[in-house]
Amino acid sequence: MHKPKRNPVRIIKNLIILAGCVTAFFWMFFDILKRETVVSHDASVLVMGTNATFKPFEYKESGQVVGFDVDLAREIAKELGAELKIEDMSFDGLLPALEGGRIDLAVAGMSVTTEREKNALFSEPYYQATQRIIVPEDSKIFNKSGLIGKKIGVQLGTTGDILASEISGAKVVQFPAVPNVLQELASGRVDAVILDDAPATQYITAFTGLKVLSSPIGNESYAIAMKKSNYTLKEKVDQAINRMKEDGRMDALLKKYFGETR
Ligand code: ARG
Repeated sequence: MHKPKRNPVRIIKNLIILAGCVTAFFWMFFDILKRETVVSHDASVLVMGTNATFKPFEYKESGQVVGFDVDLAREIAKELGAELKIEDMSFDGLLPALEGGRIDLAVAGMSVTTEREKNALFSEPYYQATQRIIVPEDSKIFNKSGLIGKKIGVQLGTTGDILASEISGAKVVQFPAVPNVLQELASGRVDAVILDDAPATQYITAFTGLKVLSSPIGNESYAIAMKKSNYTLKEKVDQAINRMKEDGRMDALLKKYFGETR
């Protein structure tokens, strides 16, 4: 009796089934991995929370949130193979939103502070900023000590807010959006404003008679904040930021938003 001949059609069929199973397995496996790092409900979407009143980092242009941070987050999403979704909210709502899992990243020109580090993870820093005092051109305030006992406008929950609250006798007036703070200063309802250097320079151009004092009152680093437990995402975000610093994409971004001067 001769051995039954192998049926080539059957072999190919079995091979196709096997390949299908292997692919399905890997697909499921990577999907689970992805879901772990991207905490939003849909694994292919990376949700960025921000407060779009902070030029040139995030602001609105014909209804769209744009700026340095948006471009940065898009690059990171690309590296993660996810689609970027933007949630515009109040600045002081960002850390609670991370905590509650409503956003994956807070990308909002957010400065790293030890207090914030108690409740969130921060990425590698991507920008060095300073805090500045803004006053009317004819003001008698020339430096930080000139702020003692004065009415100071700030954006609620920012490091400017914290700095102002440490000045003795000062009355701190908090606003939800940066342009409103400057509006109050221009109308004379506050004596000074404490704000980050880049937005300060950008927003005062919309008002007449305001100036930014030249000496900084604090140095800070901007970084992306993530949920305290999300080390997997932090690792990926850091990798993306470092790669961008190395391959020139970060410099290109700085050039796009700040010109040659930085
Ligand atoms: N750098 C400051 C901080 O971390 C101000 C950030 C405000 N950002 C914003 N998107 N409005 O507190």
